[in-house]
Amino acid sequence: MKIIKVNNHCLWLRYGQPIATESLAFDTQNTEELSALPSLPVKIEIMENKIKLSFGLDEAAKVFGLGQNVRGMNKRGGLYESFCTDDPIHTPDKKSLYGAHNFLLITGEKPFGLFIDYPGKIIYDIGYTLHDEMNITISDINADLFIFQNGTLKELTLSFRSLMGNSYAAPKWAFGYQQSRWSYGTKEEVDRIISGFEENEIPCDAVYLDIDYMDDFKDFTVDEQKFPKFEEYVRELKNKGIRLIPIIDAGVKIEEGYDVYEEGVENQYFCLNSQQEPFVAAVWPGKVHFPDFLNPEVRRWFGLKYKTLVDMGVEGFWNDMNEPSIFYTEDRLQRTIDMAKKSEGENLNIHSFFELTHAFKSLFNHPDDYQKFYHQIEGTLINHKSVHNLYGYNMTRSAAEGLEKIDPNRRFLLFSRASTVGLGRYAGIWTGDNYSWWEHILLHLQMMPAINQCGILYTGADTGGFSGNANGQLLVRWSQFSLFSPLFRNHSALNTRAQEPFAFDETITRIMRNVIKLRYALIPYLYSEYMKSVTQHGVYFMPLCFAFEDGFSSEVDDQMLVGESLMVAPVYRENAKGRYVYVPEDMLMWKAVTDKIEKTEIMKKGIHYVDLSLEEVPIFIKKNSLLILARPAMNVDNLDLGELTVLGYVTDEATYIYYDDDGITRNYERGDYSEVIIKVVYEHNQYTVTIKNNGNHTLRKVNLILVGPDDSREERELLIDQ
Ligand code: NOJ
Repeated sequence: MKIIKVNNHCLWLRYGQPIATESLAFDTQNTEELSALPSLPVKIEIMENKIKLSFGLDEAAKVFGLGQNVRGMNKRGGLYESFCTDDPIHTPDKKSLYGAHNFLLITGEKPFGLFIDYPGKIIYDIGYTLHDEMNITISDINADLFIFQNGTLKELTLSFRSLMGNSYAAPKWAFGYQQSRWSYGTKEEVDRIISGFEENEIPCDAVYLDIDYMDDFKDFTVDEQKFPKFEEYVRELKNKGIRLIPIIDAGVKIEEGYDVYEEGVENQYFCLNSQQEPFVAAVWPGKVHFPDFLNPEVRRWFGLKYKTLVDMGVEGFWNDMNEPSIFYTEDRLQRTIDMAKKSEGENLNIHSFFELTHAFKSLFNHPDDYQKFYHQIEGTLINHKSVHNLYGYNMTRSAAEGLEKIDPNRRFLLFSRASTVGLGRYAGIWTGDNYSWWEHILLHLQMMPAINQCGILYTGADTGGFSGNANGQLLVRWSQFSLFSPLFRNHSALNTRAQEPFAFDETITRIMRNVIKLRYALIPYLYSEYMKSVTQHGVYFMPLCFAFEDGFSSEVDDQMLVGESLMVAPVYRENAKGRYVYVPEDMLMWKAVTDKIEKTEIMKKGIHYVDLSLEEVPIFIKKNSLLILARPAMNVDNLDLGELTVLGYVTDEATYIYYDDDGITRNYERGDYSEVIIKVVYEHNQYTVTIKNNGNHTLRKVNLILVGPDDSREERELLIDQ
């Protein structure tokens, strides 16, 4: 074992030989190897073929983290497994979703954090078996542990975030509203959807193509019948301000003459079975091979395949089914069919009937199928199971690295379904197949800060719900939450009720138009906060207790902080006419409907019931903080960022650093961005406002709306010297 002090917050314990761990990217030059283990907050037991960590939980202890997972912000009481899983029913009894995010924070007198860098299965029993104990089992002795200490929850998170290296930066247009469905399967359908947005005057920046745009579900192909002259079409839509975003799947169809398949076989780029032949599984197209994304050469090859679509003008992709999802393997299917044949004409009883149905149901993503294939890592064959959580991550890394080669200075939209910690350096994630359930608004509200803590900043849920049927009210309330997440995308499944913003009645269409316009008004702030978290290794969403140490804040898990100025408290109950909100310090509440700032009110520290009609979104501005807003436009490219509104709640002094850049290139990495520093001082019942433009921002005019102590309000315009 090696004991390495990374910095004052972080101790790194390396056990055995790491297997292909790539999660962190810190500079190891300034680390210090220690000869003895200092006292640790967790007990570590190395057993024959596993590592066990245990920690006593006192009654007050809370456990935050685990990224994309079910249950509340506080993970105590649950049993979780880190094993990227394509399970479309996200109920509280599930142990894993699509991501494996092994970062936890434990509160207490001396809070500490834990990151386990291990790519196979980890089991977390967090006060589930024993109320006052947390037990973690790592299914191997080759693992790296990082223990974070000596800081607040926020400091420990930022320390972890900074070890991960730079984050992926989505383009600015990816902060616009995006519309998806499985599937808008023909050009006519896409046109119909876009007309819906135009006719209803609802802004939109992107429309998604799900699997049906492909020729027979073959990656990097387009069905010419359904989308004739695809390249022309992509450009035509871009001129209207709409980007088309195609899906890419992990499985490569087995078909003679299909270049990706043939090149993969010829170069031995696919995962192997135990006979060292390409492993066969089945997904959408039927039988497929899985590219061995853990091999750098395969990543280079597959990543460059995105060029086919990039050359047609595509600027964004979503990578799917990359846990990888397996519908069935041939031998298991055969055994199940044989079993069914044997049952023919039988008098099936409780046992034989359920055995038969279970055999069919468990074909899909059968756990044992993940042991049937192998990766070649530096010449050694490694069973998939022990590196499972790296698969989707490496598929998306392959795409990111490929796209960087294809068009080095362009920022592409890229997000994945499966992920592990470290993916945030290459892309974002969406949270997969949720349901049109009210409970899932809350689930996502609780999940988003944890995903950010694990270093993935560009994220969002299928707004309105993927499976099941949404009603207009659900879509509105869900959108009022999603409008704060970097990815604001409405997506729904095959055979579900249409859920575009104009798919319901006139009232819902009007409210959705306003909600989406509000999103566009907030883009300068949301993008600025997002890019600051990208460039400063920060977090964009936070639980309240990361900023307020008043004890009660850590009990609140249905509100969150968005960037440095805002707290949000979305409504997530059907027919609710309002909700309880905990206000941890005096704040200014804006009941927003669109960008018009009409109803504001100072809310005193404490618990309040806030009345909220269906169209009202409660936005809380922290004391001595500022929010910047633009006038909405039909897409991000048309936002006029030369004129902004600044809404502030200032009792003493507030400073906001408004970050901006061109939003489409990587020039910001070389210092080409602007920071407009807006400072408001309230003294002797008067406001003094100074605005300093560091960089070449085109800001010409600011409309100030400042609210001070006792609700005093001042509105004025300020022209900026260029
Ligand atoms: C599963 C994905 O999670 C979903 O978003 C997509 O619509 C379907 N695959 C079909 O591609």
